[in-house]
Amino acid sequence: MELNKKERKKAHDLMELWEDDVLERYPEEGKKSKKEFRNYDNPARDTVREFYRQNHKYQTYDFVQEKKKEFLGLDRKPMSLWDAVEYLNTLIDDSDPDIDLDQTQHLLQTSEAIRADGHPDWFVLTGFLHDLGKVLCLYGEPQWAVVGDTFPVGCKFSDKIVYPEFFDANPDNTNERFNTKLGVYEENCGLNNVDMSWGHDEYLYHVMKDYLPQEGLYMIRYHSFYAQHREQAYNHLMDKHDHEMFKWVDKFNPYDLYTKAPVRPNVDELRPYYEDLASKFLPDTIRF
Ligand SMILES: [Fe+2]
Ligand SMILES: [Fe+2]
Repeated sequence: MELNKKERKKAHDLMELWEDDVLERYPEEGKKSKKEFRNYDNPARDTVREFYRQNHKYQTYDFVQEKKKEFLGLDRKPMSLWDAVEYLNTLIDDSDPDIDLDQTQHLLQTSEAIRADGHPDWFVLTGFLHDLGKVLCLYGEPQWAVVGDTFPVGCKFSDKIVYPEFFDANPDNTNERFNTKLGVYEENCGLNNVDMSWGHDEYLYHVMKDYLPQEGLYMIRYHSFYAQHREQAYNHLMDKHDHEMFKWVDKFNPYDLYTKAPVRPNVDELRPYYEDLASKFLPDTIRF
């Protein structure tokens, strides 16, 4: 099922709200967020609350297994990197180009900031493609199964996750198999053995896992795992290697959050550089 124009616009707008909310929770050091996002009669805030109410209710261990089965065959849509970028951008086709930054611009602002700081090319490429998993939304997946903070399923939900009270409605919360500190896992078993809530991060990790270095794959897979990279709430599941790799997730996060600026990167000018970069790491056709 593909989305019609109105649905795409709605999906885009909600993604923006979610990102504003993350920024509100984790403002750049020394900067206070301009928006009064947390004010009580704030319709944007209500939308985000409602989004998390659904996300926390429906992201169960079984739901994640089902989605993995459904999508990880990667037989949905073969695309080149640029096809995928353009496809994702159809989310905002009909919005006002003067006020909204589209997805390509978020990707380019992220990657160009990484490039400007002199980081290696795989890091730049990772920045450029980190949100391509959001194409899930265009397949007709509900927002709560595409974006939002991610967290482990199959064990106790941490109260460090945003809106933890909404987990009361999640059936896993009262299931003895899943509601203990370790649940189905062993202490420090490593995140590779842990199922995360389903969304664009996990999906894109599987799309890219044969092509990018570990560090980049961690950035992709865990960039919305705020309960860990900002709150350290799941150290008991992480192994030594995870901790090493999370240094890179930490390095990536500010580029994702704090590079949104009204200046638009020049897409046509930058395209050859990114196509070149893609050809260094990725096959011509990527299986989504
Ligand atoms: Fe993201
Ligand atoms: Fe992002």
